[in-house]
Amino acid sequence: MVLEFPIRNDDKILPFRSDPWWESVVIFQGGNSILNCVKIEGGEPLRGTLRVSGSKNAALALLSGALLVEGEVILHNVPYIQDVATMLTLLDRLGVQSTWQGSTVVLQTRELTGSQPPADLVSKMRASFYIFAPLMIRQGHAFMPKPGGCSIGTRPVDYHLNGLQAMGARVVEHTHGYEADAPGELTGARIYFDVPSAGATQHLMAAAVRARGLTTIENAAMEPEVVNLANFLNACGGRVEGAGTSTVVVEGVSKLKSKVEFSVIPDRLEAGTFALAAAATQGDVTLERVMPEHLHSLFAKMREAGVIVEETEDTVRIKSAGRYKAVDIHTMPYPGFPTDLQQPMSAFLALAEGTSFIRETIYERRAQHVSELQKMGAEMMVEGRTIIIRGVETLRGASVNATDLRGGAALIIAALAARGCSEIYHMEHVDRGYSRLEENLQSLGARIQRLSTSAVTQPLNSDYAPSGL
Ligand code: EPU
Repeated sequence: MVLEFPIRNDDKILPFRSDPWWESVVIFQGGNSILNCVKIEGGEPLRGTLRVSGSKNAALALLSGALLVEGEVILHNVPYIQDVATMLTLLDRLGVQSTWQGSTVVLQTRELTGSQPPADLVSKMRASFYIFAPLMIRQGHAFMPKPGGCSIGTRPVDYHLNGLQAMGARVVEHTHGYEADAPGELTGARIYFDVPSAGATQHLMAAAVRARGLTTIENAAMEPEVVNLANFLNACGGRVEGAGTSTVVVEGVSKLKSKVEFSVIPDRLEAGTFALAAAATQGDVTLERVMPEHLHSLFAKMREAGVIVEETEDTVRIKSAGRYKAVDIHTMPYPGFPTDLQQPMSAFLALAEGTSFIRETIYERRAQHVSELQKMGAEMMVEGRTIIIRGVETLRGASVNATDLRGGAALIIAALAARGCSEIYHMEHVDRGYSRLEENLQSLGARIQRLSTSAVTQPLNSDYAPSGL
């Protein structure tokens, strides 16, 4: 089903047509994705209060970890985003039924019916790979098609595979995927990563919970999403220590609880994106239900640029204070400046006075949004892995393409701050990670309208009733 274009002939943007939310959570089945577009009339300062959603990356790790539980898992604060829809569909194909109640997902994980998730779903996102070990542990055998995700650079899975092999799994690579057997139990192992990997830390931590003996992961990722998963695994009856530091120690257990209830942490990346949008539009926005301590690196750089950032325990207020000044950024694993906020930050810095340098140290192709921002009048260029930005006083509206999730978020920030109208195409990238984007931005006074959704729409389950927007 394709939604109608909600614009009038005179091209004035109409108030949002409140379609049931699930109509915008689509399972892409070959629709014409170029129609997935938002139109933004920029120049309006964002003002008001917004509640941040549950974290995409934490929710995806928890949904994968839930496969270890033979019974029922209740997860609160799950974000309504495409990646979660994809993961729930993937779990459904393996026999896990899920139902939504507001932002709570209830998963029935007692019996699994498969050990090979469909390649078309796995190829949609990188996080699908995290189900490999739980599936192998539950079924004794698993075949995992090669994962997909945003094309932001090389994203190998060698840490995942080496770690599983160190724990005694037999892993074979085929042209289209990986096959793994766990003859008998997995056994604890000593694992080390060359660079901290959030995904590999989460995946191997989950596997280690059911391995015999001790597993130590050294140079582990310290991201809040890793801690959230460790706490979930402990709530399931696991014994994980050290999450949030560079050494995680897991003592395997032979059985987990059969019913677990747990909450996803707030999305620091959504919060960061809205914080930058508020600042770039010279607005005044309070974000609620955030964990400001997860965003210290961003707030430090925003303050350095001249933004007023006022934190409480679970809120943050972002206020503009005139024109900002250039700052330099190095992306680093947590608690360093997150690579995922580098692109949104570049849109903010496009308007800051002076020259900013952003050095991307994690992914080699996370600057594809730069040529799109140039179409909006941004003066920036890419040299190797560095984005050099000479701030301009104003950006102008343009038709641009989202090339990946956070690159799309950067274009939205720029379009909100720009003079005139912008159309951002390929919103399917952005829909992967931002929940109810238009509604949220509209509630802050933004003039943003979805022009069309792209593909076949399919509610996850027919009894889902969207909670108030
Ligand atoms: N790496 C390897 N081998 C591996 C795994 C990782 O060399 O087996 C390297 C990667 O090449 C990269 C670095 O380790 O250089 C970090 O990759 P990581 O594994 O941490 O990335 P990821 O787990 O695949 C998660 C987030 C990303 C986020 C990165 C970095 C999820 C689902 N994804 O990815 O989120 O950019 O950590 O913080 O949790 C996003 O939300 O937009 C996003 C891309």
